[in-house]
Amino acid sequence: MTDASLPPIVAYGPLYPYLTQELERRFTVHPVAADADLSALPPSVLEARALVSFGSVGASAAIMDALPNLEIIGLFSVGYDKVDVEHARAKGIRVSNTPDVLTDDVADLAVGLLYATVRNIAANDRMVRSGTWARGEKPALCGRVTGSRIGILGLGRIGRAIAMRLEPVAGEILYHNRREAADTPYRYVADPLDFARQSDVIIVATSGGPEAAKLVDAAMIDALGPDGVIVNISRGGVIDEEAMIAALADKRIAGAGLDVFAHEPHVPEALFAMDHVVLQPHQGSATIHTRKAMADLVVANLDAHFAGQELPTPVV
Ligand code: DGY
Repeated sequence: MTDASLPPIVAYGPLYPYLTQELERRFTVHPVAADADLSALPPSVLEARALVSFGSVGASAAIMDALPNLEIIGLFSVGYDKVDVEHARAKGIRVSNTPDVLTDDVADLAVGLLYATVRNIAANDRMVRSGTWARGEKPALCGRVTGSRIGILGLGRIGRAIAMRLEPVAGEILYHNRREAADTPYRYVADPLDFARQSDVIIVATSGGPEAAKLVDAAMIDALGPDGVIVNISRGGVIDEEAMIAALADKRIAGAGLDVFAHEPHVPEALFAMDHVVLQPHQGSATIHTRKAMADLVVANLDAHFAGQELPTPVV
């Protein structure tokens, strides 16, 4: 039951149930489906002063323009690649996201995907379940993580958390960013092709969006080479997906562990038949603990905004 005197907001969703419940305790919540026709929004929705959305939907210029009273977009994700940030800035609309609270869980999944891919964990699991091992088939030998050169593409918060986890076992940790980062013990490689050549594994941890589109291209994939592995917990668009699939099919790289895809939730079917690929349905931050912390942070940003205070985690 919502109280009409509470600030009106749009839940652009469907949203995570705990988040919806917390929003409903504070606001008059108008649910709007992420694929709704924006030219036919009911008048009550047009009152909304806040929009709560999530990573894969974000907020387009069109939804910002459709809501004339919009003051703030509270995003239930760290990635804001689907938010038209410049449009928000131009209209004086605030944007908040959920950094930090999800760093450890996303880094954990990156490491899990790395081991699962290099050690053939998913393919070998299928072998046990299907009975082929019991019938005498021998699993293929695989590569190893220990001693390998781990290349982190994007040494931000999540990239650093991944590096910290792998430091005890890696032969070396190197990274590529647009600019060299201060205060890190890891080796910076300025040229992306050199970076790929010198890495056994590339873990993609950069933020998404147009600036990072197809950063991992065919040349970089070839530079990684036939023993190389790609792990992606960032955004699908950061990799040239077609080039990666072609390289996987030709065994020009050894494997890939992928939590994200260019057109989620659609995953190129060519990947389904590949035993040297491990696939996840975008689960980086999807732990009970972290999703609750993310929801609490969305609410904290909205509460701060409506109380006229500094946003805890502003983007704009
Ligand atoms: C994030 O927070 O950006 C996650 O990838 C979920 O969208």
